[in-house]
Amino acid sequence: MSSLFSPIALRGLTLENRIVVSPMCQYSSEDGSANEWHLVHLGHLTLSGPSIAFFEATHVSPQARITYRDLGLYSDENERGIERVVRFVRAWARSKIGVQLAHAGRKASTLPPWEGGGPASGEHAYPIVAPSALAYDTGWHVPSELDEAGMERIRSDFVAAARRAERLGIDIIELHFAHGYLAHEFLSPLSNHRTDRYGGSLENRMRFPLELFERVRAVWPERKPLGVRISATDWVEGGWNLDESVVFAGALKQRGCDFIDVSSGGLSPLQKIDAHPGYQVPFSARIKREIGITTIAVGAITRPQQAEAIVAGGEADMVALARGFLRYPRWTWDAADALGGEPFVPNQYLRGRKTRFE
Ligand SMILES: Cc1cc2nc3c(=O)[nH]c(=O)nc-3n(C[C@H](O)[C@H](O)[C@H](O)COP(=O)(O)O)c2cc1C
Repeated sequence: MSSLFSPIALRGLTLENRIVVSPMCQYSSEDGSANEWHLVHLGHLTLSGPSIAFFEATHVSPQARITYRDLGLYSDENERGIERVVRFVRAWARSKIGVQLAHAGRKASTLPPWEGGGPASGEHAYPIVAPSALAYDTGWHVPSELDEAGMERIRSDFVAAARRAERLGIDIIELHFAHGYLAHEFLSPLSNHRTDRYGGSLENRMRFPLELFERVRAVWPERKPLGVRISATDWVEGGWNLDESVVFAGALKQRGCDFIDVSSGGLSPLQKIDAHPGYQVPFSARIKREIGITTIAVGAITRPQQAEAIVAGGEADMVALARGFLRYPRWTWDAADALGGEPFVPNQYLRGRKTRFE
């Protein structure tokens, strides 16, 4: 019996396996709205039956976007773009649909990778905010330090986006508190130099992210899961680290968090990442063991047996794949063949499922 293909419940949601399509920015939205690209991209990834397919980082305001081509959930037009994808998945697939609500903080107002990446200028630039007026790197825009009014606007933007997600019938929300974006910038002492109640001690640095969590939890239906993606470490001496992540996961659990999606890095250009297969899995394992919270492991998980071992060994409850799904959209079918599982196969593709070419 495969652990990877066993069901799991998150609040009122039953998932049919432990395989998750990780959020992946597509830099293809127009004014924050999904279009044909998103329909084909996320739609086709659901056709091999991952239990959850996450939309890419979905920003809570135009200024919160990483780039001017990123997805948002702040306008009626944005809602209509996502709705089309949701309609496809409901009609033709079985995956549950997640959105990853995000604010890019000091890493907003950049360019899509294929337009050169890095800070935008001219018509594609917009003002950026962060806990402290510290640029991500030399040559990057210096953010304005958030005051209470600015923080309240962001809290209400998250709430408004969560309400839109509910209206769309989204199944699950993940708050993007990782990869050096706004919430992570509050957590890390490298990017948070505040002297008020939002900076300094760990308790203070956790305050704004926890407030965001509480505000979203309060409006997101009781039966629906709400989780958080964190960076478990900055990979920089003196930065946010695994010990603090464990405490943070505990504080989130107390507030009703249903899962932690355990990633790492992204806060500082000085990071030294030791990336090898499953390199972030030990972070998930420790958080799960010490806090007793459901976790998703992510990062360089590519082989079915590797994924099976992570779940069967109790290092995580689920695994998320990003690049693996881009390379092998039917990864779930191959994993089912290798491990003995029954994946969702659309009727239209049944003949393909039975055919092996090697
Ligand atoms: C094209 C691409 C876009 C990504 N965009 C996001 C994103 O929107 N939000 C996020 O949390 N991580 C994002 N990531 C990171 C992935 O979700 C994942 O954590 C990372 O790629 C490691 O998993 P992998 O080894 O399976 O690719 C992105 C990764 C890729 C390859």
